[in-house]
Amino acid sequence: MSTAMDLSGQTALVTGAVKGIGAAIAKAFLEAGADVLVFDIAVPDASTSLAAYAGQLGRTIHYCQVDTSSRSAVRSALQACLRATDAGAVDILVNNTGISRVTPFLELTEADWDAMFNTNVKSVFHCCQAVLPSMLERGRGSIINIASELAYLGRARFVPYTASKGAILSLTRSLAREFAPAIRVNGIAPGPCDTDMLRAEISTSEQWESEIDLPLRRVAQPEEIAMTAVFLASGFATYYCGETLSPNGGALMR
Ligand SMILES: NC(=O)c1ccc[n+]([C@@H]2O[C@H](COP(=O)([O-])OP(=O)(O)OC[C@H]3O[C@@H](n4cnc5c(N)ncnc54)[C@H](O)[C@@H]3O)[C@@H](O)[C@H]2O)c1
Repeated sequence: MSTAMDLSGQTALVTGAVKGIGAAIAKAFLEAGADVLVFDIAVPDASTSLAAYAGQLGRTIHYCQVDTSSRSAVRSALQACLRATDAGAVDILVNNTGISRVTPFLELTEADWDAMFNTNVKSVFHCCQAVLPSMLERGRGSIINIASELAYLGRARFVPYTASKGAILSLTRSLAREFAPAIRVNGIAPGPCDTDMLRAEISTSEQWESEIDLPLRRVAQPEEIAMTAVFLASGFATYYCGETLSPNGGALMR
């Protein structure tokens, strides 16, 4: 058993990793020695591409444009990715794909609701079903699902988002029970983090600080969330099963 934050020899699939928290997780995994596969509906911006960085580290990163809420797209992307790289299988899956939207509850349409659950929850279903058979065959694997502290706190005008993240908390526990001991399934419920998602929700971090009780008095940088993913995937976290860790600046203390 490796007891270091060393992921060398492992292949990690990170969804929604063209930017934000997912990109920081992909980078942190590369730094920890893993090779990385990225599934994202968006195309990476050449200026922020991780490919050159991966090359400098002697690691590989392979990007696939895919809507992770589509079962068939996830399946064919995974096959294509594994064929195009030396990776035989995925050792670590991070289900990070997510969207959020600020809408008063009474103005929500059924389409709004479905879009949120399709992207935030169904993506996890499809990606887990795609990678679990080979993880089980090899008798090991780690799955990390990105929830949100808002799943616990709730937030006005975010009902579908917070409900979808609540689903992530409970599916993490149920998957963990179903696939332990071979596969460890855990989650991360970040607090407010400086990404395009947060910027679209609220224009300044000061507004966050006045809106919620945030003892650390600042929003997180994506790298601060990414380290929790490296920890959960690593040999330091072998006794974590069905747990969701919450780097949240003290907004929520349980
Ligand atoms: N930023 C925060 O404050 C915060 C807090 C708690 C939880 N989270 C969660 O962290 C995760 C990452 O959020 P972020 O802030 O980095 O967001 P972001 O908007 O910066 O990045 C989200 C990424 O997901 C991709 N994506 C969206 N829909 C997709 C789909 N259908 N298929 C594939 N890729 C898709 C986007 O293209 C993008 O690259 C999300 O699950 C989010 O809910 C974010």
